Amino acid sequence: MSSAKIGLIGLGTMGSALALNIAEKGFPVAVWNRTTARTREFRAEAGDLAARILPTESLAELVAALEKPRAIILMVPAGAATDQQIEALAPLLDPEDLVIDAGNADFHDTNRRAAAGPPMRFLGMGVSGGEEGARHGPSIMGGGDKADWDRVAPILTAIAARAPDGSPCAAWLGEAGAGHFVKAAHNGIEYADMQMIAEIYGVLRDGFEMGADEIAGVFRQWDEGPLKSYLVEITGEVAAAKDPRTGAPMLDVILDSAGQKGTGRWTVVEGARLGAPIPVIEAAVTARDVSARLEERAAGEARFGPAPQPLSGEVSVLEQALIAGKILCYAQGFAMISTASAEFGWSLPSAEIARIWRAGCIIRSAMLDDMAEALEGAPERNLILDPAFAARLEADLPALRRVVASAALHGLAAPALSAGLFWFDQMRTKRGTANLIQAQRDYFGAHGFQRLDGGPEKHGPWAKPANEI
Ligand code: 6PG
Repeated sequence: MSSAKIGLIGLGTMGSALALNIAEKGFPVAVWNRTTARTREFRAEAGDLAARILPTESLAELVAALEKPRAIILMVPAGAATDQQIEALAPLLDPEDLVIDAGNADFHDTNRRAAAGPPMRFLGMGVSGGEEGARHGPSIMGGGDKADWDRVAPILTAIAARAPDGSPCAAWLGEAGAGHFVKAAHNGIEYADMQMIAEIYGVLRDGFEMGADEIAGVFRQWDEGPLKSYLVEITGEVAAAKDPRTGAPMLDVILDSAGQKGTGRWTVVEGARLGAPIPVIEAAVTARDVSARLEERAAGEARFGPAPQPLSGEVSVLEQALIAGKILCYAQGFAMISTASAEFGWSLPSAEIARIWRAGCIIRSAMLDDMAEALEGAPERNLILDPAFAARLEADLPALRRVVASAALHGLAAPALSAGLFWFDQMRTKRGTANLIQAQRDYFGAHGFQRLDGGPEKHGPWAKPANEI
């Protein structure tokens, strides 16, 4: 029987949620999982949606259950597991069948898989929103041949989140790995947003000496204002939660060592390869690495002294600082997307990307509405130069300076906020200090330089011959 519109492989948390979402939107979906017990359990728990779910117990059965040309979503771990799954499917599929990798793949892998060509078509699709998003509406970032995307677009747009204006948060963004690249950039920004929030939490907890409940109140209030976003909202939620075992605030019993699956690091590596500065994201990834060095940090505190001095100030200054930090971080993120777009020959639509991040994904926020508008008019212009964002920065930067300076004076770590600030100060300085770097390079290596006055001399009158150390 070939009656399913689409197939889905991998009934883990994300795959199960996505399959239920597809079924709920009216599309019969055939599912297969490595372990048949899980497939049966999934169907048994599907409730009213079970009628639109076809459980299959072999890949051949899955393939036979699909309408032609077939479309199969893979939701399996990135890397080798994805390659193995594609290899196992390939002999069963026709050239016009379509495999859609919805995992968190490295976009270089997606480029490679897309370039492999026959025996079937291939799309790389970034999906954001965690389990809740996958179940009720994720943000979907597609990459591959536009015609392949168009074939499955009715299903993908039906299951995607809806932005406040009702438009679906799903889009085709470009060839091959474009969708997975944008998903990695999303995750880099996710790391940065989370880190800046954590730094402000640190100022509230260790500087202002607030308890978790009070901190929850601060974030809940901020979620009503310009910082309105999923991550600020859940910060309020997790800060208010209590540990069922001890009754203590949940945050106070969680080890301060951050995990990471690697997508933030991919973004940093790609930023470095492209020469696209993303210092806030770099600082956020590094901060997670530092957080994991528990023993060294304990030894550091034993040697250099304990917790920082308390500091006082207005909570509204912290809100403004976080707003400024967020604008700077997104300015870097979108600039990196633009650089990658030129480098890889994509035409990544920045405004559309901002639009499909407005709902469903982890970094969804009210501010993305304004960013979409700013990027619509001038996709290549750095966000800090957009008139509206420039004005917001002028209003909020003094607060960011105060917070970064106070954090430094009081020994509170704020690496992402300060990385944003110092990037900004470099970006707004016409005459920087790289003239000295050029002179040094010429001195020790005869690397040459350009003169401000356009003169022909390429080397300095250094005391030693320029090519000698
Ligand atoms: C999303 C998330 C998701 C990611 C988790 C955990 O957009 O839904 O980015 O894809 O896997 O947030 O990521 P880390 O383990 O790297 O923190």
